[in-house]
Amino acid sequence: MPCTVVTGAFWGDEGKGKIISYLALKEPLDVCVRTGSVNAAHTICYQGKRYALHMVPGGFVYEKCRLLIGAGTNVHVAQFLKEVEETKVKDRIGIDSQASIIEEKHSMQDKSNAHLKSLGTTGWGVGPALEERVRRTAKLAKDSPDLEKYLTDVSEEVNKALDKGKNVLLEGTQGLMLSLFHGTYPYVTGRDTSASAICSEAGVGPTRVSNVLTVFKSFITRVGTGPLPGEITKEEATRRGWFETAAGTGRDRRSAPFDFELARKSAMINGATQGAVTKLDCVYPECKGSKTYSELSREAKKFIEEIEKQTRIPIVLIGTGPDALDLIDRR
Ligand code: IMP
Ligand code: MG
Repeated sequence: MPCTVVTGAFWGDEGKGKIISYLALKEPLDVCVRTGSVNAAHTICYQGKRYALHMVPGGFVYEKCRLLIGAGTNVHVAQFLKEVEETKVKDRIGIDSQASIIEEKHSMQDKSNAHLKSLGTTGWGVGPALEERVRRTAKLAKDSPDLEKYLTDVSEEVNKALDKGKNVLLEGTQGLMLSLFHGTYPYVTGRDTSASAICSEAGVGPTRVSNVLTVFKSFITRVGTGPLPGEITKEEATRRGWFETAAGTGRDRRSAPFDFELARKSAMINGATQGAVTKLDCVYPECKGSKTYSELSREAKKFIEEIEKQTRIPIVLIGTGPDALDLIDRR
């Protein structure tokens, strides 16, 4: 801290939600800004409850954290209102007046367009909503009466919080390999997902960022179509305990072993200063629930050291179970 950007290293679903919820409770976080749109579901398990949040920032678990949704986002009004209710955050969440609105028609366009379908989009309509924004015909948050009481100027709020030395976290979306610019085009999402883009969506300049934390999962998953180097079958994934379904759409996630070269590239483009590795217990079951680095098996330590060597960043947080607090903190 004070200004940390959290990014995903691969094709999303690395466990950013878990890492963010841990930091929110631990630092604790004063401000947490969400970027991106409703296509991403960030899973958070806390106090026996599981949340799959598409709009509300993961920092909500710390009850004093101010929650913001940046100008670069596309807000799904109904989903936003539903999650505000579920997480009980109506008095501490704000949306930038200039965020754009993602509408039902965008979802219909997404689902009925053969090209978008062939990419395996989530169907929420994020691509069409972004197209409309670029055409400069999009509705903005300030045009929606339902959002009136949440409107704020996110860049002003965040930069002022940083001036006061507060702990701010900018929550990234998806992973670098789904970036419109740096990912496996055309099998990507409709926006850049690198750390720089996250800052831009929130209205924070690069000189204000003190830390870029990139999240790696101990194996790789991908939903939708497009290349996945080293992909294994669903049967093999099940056997290894890697098989997952998407938190948002319920689709099967494809999987592959960890890829050190992709990890290196992702750390480089994100300008990562630190890394987190999640789900270590899915690859090294003997590590389940470990709370200290010294408890890890030799093989698990070797794996972490190899990531550090290839990416040239320290792995400071290691997930060993689903709860926000099942984590080794080496900082
Ligand atoms: P879209 O973002 O809905 O346009 O989908 C484009 C591609 O990004 C598809 O392969 C989706 O499966 C993938 N995608 C979008 N959001 C997420 C996410 O949060 N996690 C994983 N994959 C995603
Ligand atoms: Mg997800």
